[in-house]
Amino acid sequence: MPENENYREIEITVFRYNPQDKDSKPEYQTYTLTETPGMTLYIALIQIWSKMDHDLSFDFVCRAGICGSCSMVVNGKPRLACKTRTNEFEDGKITLLPLPVFKHIKDLSVDTGNWMNDMSVKVESWIHTQEETDLSRIEKPVDPEVADEVFELDRCIECGICLASCSTKVMREDFLGAVGLNRTARFLLDPHDQRTDADFYELVGDENGVFGCMSLMGCEDHCPKNLPLQTKIAYMRRKMVKVK
Ligand code: SF4
Ligand code: FES
Repeated sequence: MPENENYREIEITVFRYNPQDKDSKPEYQTYTLTETPGMTLYIALIQIWSKMDHDLSFDFVCRAGICGSCSMVVNGKPRLACKTRTNEFEDGKITLLPLPVFKHIKDLSVDTGNWMNDMSVKVESWIHTQEETDLSRIEKPVDPEVADEVFELDRCIECGICLASCSTKVMREDFLGAVGLNRTARFLLDPHDQRTDADFYELVGDENGVFGCMSLMGCEDHCPKNLPLQTKIAYMRRKMVKVK
């Protein structure tokens, strides 16, 4: 317990459910704890887990907004828990739910990894080239502006927040979402990849790809990396409508 009596008490209400356990019923559980300076939801959840409830499940790896594993719905909005401070919530009441759309594992834990892996395979997320790699030769130079654009899209951390914010994804199970379309744009822009627009059309030129997006902006509004998702979806769509 901190010595400073000015520290306030906060209430964290967590969705609890274990789909593997036939006796488990969905319910909310509220934990009260003392907020410390700079407390994030990561720190709060670790405190709950270590001092109050060792059965609570949630995911974290990096604690620095890099691994994308700690996404959850915080007071109605999908966010990274490790980058969310508890003092953002004036009344000190915070409700946490697992991300929708993904397979629920337990409590706040969902399986984004398998979804991301399947998406990568669907959009053939690797460089396609006929050129032989010759390690004894210097790499071909890439226009710095193009390289910057590709690196910008590579900043995606596969957190799944864009999908959890997307109404199309809720209606259309196989929709690739902003993360899948962002990934495709990354390879379309990369001069090392020799695929044509027609090749990319085969992968994303339908309603589960670029033509499914209704431009509701949820992805871009919530992406923790501020990626230009709608701009890239619009770019892809313009390219795809020209494919004969
Ligand atoms: S595009 Fe943004 S919101 Fe979507 S998975 Fe990547 S980092 Fe997360
Ligand atoms: S724990 Fe890695 S992004 Fe939050």
